[in-house]
Amino acid sequence: MKTIHYHDDGKGFPIVWIHGFPLSSKVFEPQIAIDQFRHIRVDLRGFGKTPPAEGETSMASYARDVLDVMDDAKIDRAVIAGISMGGYVVMQLLRDAPERVAALLLLDTRETPDTEEGRAARFKQADDVAKNGIGSVVDAMTPKMAIGGEAQAAIRKIMEESSPQGVIAGLKAMAARPDSAETLRNAHVPALVVVGDRDEITPPRDAERMVSLLQHAEEAPIAKAAHAANFERPEQLNPLIHAFLFRHVLRHEHAASL
Ligand code: MLT
Repeated sequence: MKTIHYHDDGKGFPIVWIHGFPLSSKVFEPQIAIDQFRHIRVDLRGFGKTPPAEGETSMASYARDVLDVMDDAKIDRAVIAGISMGGYVVMQLLRDAPERVAALLLLDTRETPDTEEGRAARFKQADDVAKNGIGSVVDAMTPKMAIGGEAQAAIRKIMEESSPQGVIAGLKAMAARPDSAETLRNAHVPALVVVGDRDEITPPRDAERMVSLLQHAEEAPIAKAAHAANFERPEQLNPLIHAFLFRHVLRHEHAASL
């Protein structure tokens, strides 16, 4: 696959990981250690090693790119996982191709669209990035992503690799994203909803609301964690993901193959 860069690690039932803003597939490096799964980590357009899009970017275009990656990797159905903006893409993919989704991992995300003020702030930020580069976005996000200095420095490095075009397109795509409440209400697959107890961007009340909308959901609160809970606290999160997917996916896939 030429356009969209992705990593393919491990063996087993596939998990497709979709990163948040303004990150890359590197934010999921700590999750490759989850055993018995094949980990597909996508770089969305304009982030990581994938070049920016030439045309308009939207949650729908990001989701299409992820489906193309699944085709390229010969994956029919997978666990679809996304953090924050990646979660918005997961919900879009669930609307567009529910038959490709075996289970959901929704990490530090929300189903609500932006408010009017939120949208205006995105456009202001996009103008600033066009004029001055991504520095102000990276500075604003760093303390919200992680608590410890080491994790903050590592995540800052990942964010600094994003292209200005990718960041601008991501801001506009997030501003235009739809309400996904109905998508979650109609979801029939098991979902694990993860949230850092100190996440200020998508706080625990967002996770609780998503759990109440979903038909088959469990919440996984992560202690001493901010927005990128998966990155800073894999020792808490990875066993929870493994146990959840063992119960809800691996056991069923095994029984179906007998
Ligand atoms: C993200 O982490 O992907 C973004 O902060 C999400 C957002 O700004 O809505």
